[in-house]
Amino acid sequence: MLFRSWTAVADTAGPDVDAMASGGPDAAGARPGWPDVASVVDHVGVRHLVVTRHALVRQVLADPQTYRPDNALDAVTPVPVAALRVLAGHRFRLPPTLANNAGASHPQIRAIVAEALHPSRVEAQRGWLTGLVRRRVARIGAALRAGVPVDLHAELAADLPLLALARLVELPDAPLGAVKDFARAALELFWAPLDADRQQVLAAEVGRFHRVLRDFAATGPGLAARLRAAGHGPDVVVGALFFLLVAGQETTSQFLTLLLHRLTGEPAILAGLRRGTVDVADVVEEGLRLEPPIVTWRRVAAVDTTLGATAVPAGTSIVLWLARAGRDATVVDRPDEFVPGQRGSRRHLAFGAGAHRCVGAQLARLEATVVVDELAPLLPGLTVLRPPWYPDNLTFRIPDTLLVCKEGPPVNAFGREGFPAHRHG
Ligand code: HEM
Repeated sequence: MLFRSWTAVADTAGPDVDAMASGGPDAAGARPGWPDVASVVDHVGVRHLVVTRHALVRQVLADPQTYRPDNALDAVTPVPVAALRVLAGHRFRLPPTLANNAGASHPQIRAIVAEALHPSRVEAQRGWLTGLVRRRVARIGAALRAGVPVDLHAELAADLPLLALARLVELPDAPLGAVKDFARAALELFWAPLDADRQQVLAAEVGRFHRVLRDFAATGPGLAARLRAAGHGPDVVVGALFFLLVAGQETTSQFLTLLLHRLTGEPAILAGLRRGTVDVADVVEEGLRLEPPIVTWRRVAAVDTTLGATAVPAGTSIVLWLARAGRDATVVDRPDEFVPGQRGSRRHLAFGAGAHRCVGAQLARLEATVVVDELAPLLPGLTVLRPPWYPDNLTFRIPDTLLVCKEGPPVNAFGREGFPAHRHG
């Protein structure tokens, strides 16, 4: 959650979290040290206001005049000159297009993207997606029954969202692995605490793919062609595709793994799914509330203002703690428990709100619903051999693996013993 350093500071209520609070620690079993609005200094000395309460997060998202989205894609670790040169060598530019666009072009670009992701087009993918997931689940089931451990992230979550996105939006003809590597590099370059060497490596990776996108944007069909036809220049077309390729698949991959991991530890929910007493759509919403892949999202104050009781000078970076807002006890009855359908479950802010609310929400929900539906019979009694590991990142969870086996740990799996087994359900 947040940068690791911030959580550590908050846990000990250390000096860097400055309680310029508009209220005490929240009533949702909050750790001490996190008031409604906290002032935090990051690893490069930049001060941010972290907003933790549901009502205040909503207030910011609903007011794009006071709190602009301009900084949504800014690198939290400033990119040094050497890495900037690498990016410039690939003619890398990220103009305001979607999430970072407060200008007049936003509604039009958003409408073109929203048309490609229209609920009816998304729903039309259900049959194809169900077939694909069912075949994968059959293979996974056979492996598990044979005593072979399975990485659910690699086998199910990692590529499904990209395959689905490619059916809705024409994408450059690039190998799946190249897109995944680029997207993860972008999440690290823009949202992780980094040193200069790593930034150089990531800039080369992101720059290389940006060049592929630039070529595609000039002549590609579908969404790229529609953006061109509406009069948007090459930088905007590239920028929109760039954002979609990251936001439109990596987020959902992460969410699928997070949700499946959570469900391995929720035997009562799995039993309810099997009996038909728990609705899969409710499970997905509760998963979004408790395990959102996007933990925070940023805005910047456009004018001097006040949030709760906290003075906010113009130019302040506002970090909206979406994950924490989902556990606000004033909104949800049992904030830390997985209770599908409980009061307030669907009021999470995992997809943001207002003018920039996620346009891929329907697609993400469809993917998660189909995966949970198809995999639910296999989940009870699984042993988690290796839970996901999460790199340090301000915004994205980025789980790497979810290695499971049936019942007890396998003997000498992969020729070695001693997995840190976490038995669930
Ligand atoms: C579980 C999966 C996902 C989560 C948690 C998520 C979350 C978010 C969040 C928090 C925002 C910012 C909202 C704001 O500023 O108010 C956003 C924006 C956006 N998302 Fe998603 N998203 C997901 C999946 C997707 C998918 C599958 C697509 C497309 C295929 C997509 C496309 C977009 C776009 C285009 C925007 C920018 C909208 C705008 O600025 O007008 N997202 N998403």
